[in-house]
Amino acid sequence: MQLRLLQESDLDTVLAIQAQCYPHAWLESRAVFARKLALSPRSNWVAEDADGVLGYLFTHPWHGAHLPQLDTRLPALPSNADQHFLHDLAVHPRARGRGVAARLVLHALAWGMAEGLREARLIAVLGAERFWSGFGFAPLEQPQGQLAAYGEQARAMGRVLAPP
Ligand SMILES: CC(C)(COP(=O)(O)OP(=O)(O)OC[C@H]1O[C@@H](n2cnc3c(N)ncnc32)[C@H](O)[C@@H]1OP(=O)(O)O)[C@@H](O)C(=O)NCCC(=O)NCCS
Repeated sequence: MQLRLLQESDLDTVLAIQAQCYPHAWLESRAVFARKLALSPRSNWVAEDADGVLGYLFTHPWHGAHLPQLDTRLPALPSNADQHFLHDLAVHPRARGRGVAARLVLHALAWGMAEGLREARLIAVLGAERFWSGFGFAPLEQPQGQLAAYGEQARAMGRVLAPP
């Protein structure tokens, strides 16, 4: 397995994996993924092997308590970004349990630290809170009214990336 930067030519595969991993109501469009790539081209990765892409992770620099909304084109990235927002991690069902997600997450956290971002944040869905706690994430104060689109189990989580 190897990791590489996610490119626009991967988006058909990304959309197919997304559809295998999330309820229909949560699916994000090609345009929304393309916008993330255009704004932050160095912070999105795929894991692949000889048979193709196994999983992907979209992330971007961010700031403040306002959460990026699902299936909404990102506005310009904040000029005062100090957070690394992990937006979407998905591994094809055929490739689960092989450490694909762990490789992507550890790579992303190292990238955020190297960029000087001080904190990583995400929204854990589908009961993934325990998965994220294994990477040092803990529940944050839950942002009122911003999590509804992510389902009943959604939890905002965060962890420090580097000492202040
Ligand atoms: C969650 C997901 C990304 C994990 O992918 P994966 O490649 O199978 O994960 P890994 O093999 O790297 O597992 C890493 C560890 O997390 C554990 N784990 C994996 N999925 C988990 C889950 N949903 N809940 C709790 N623990 C989980 C594994 O058992 C493993 O633990 P171990 O190292 O002690 O064996 C994958 O199940 C997926 O795509 N799910 C659907 C989309 C989703 O929920 N994404 C996360 C949204 S926040």
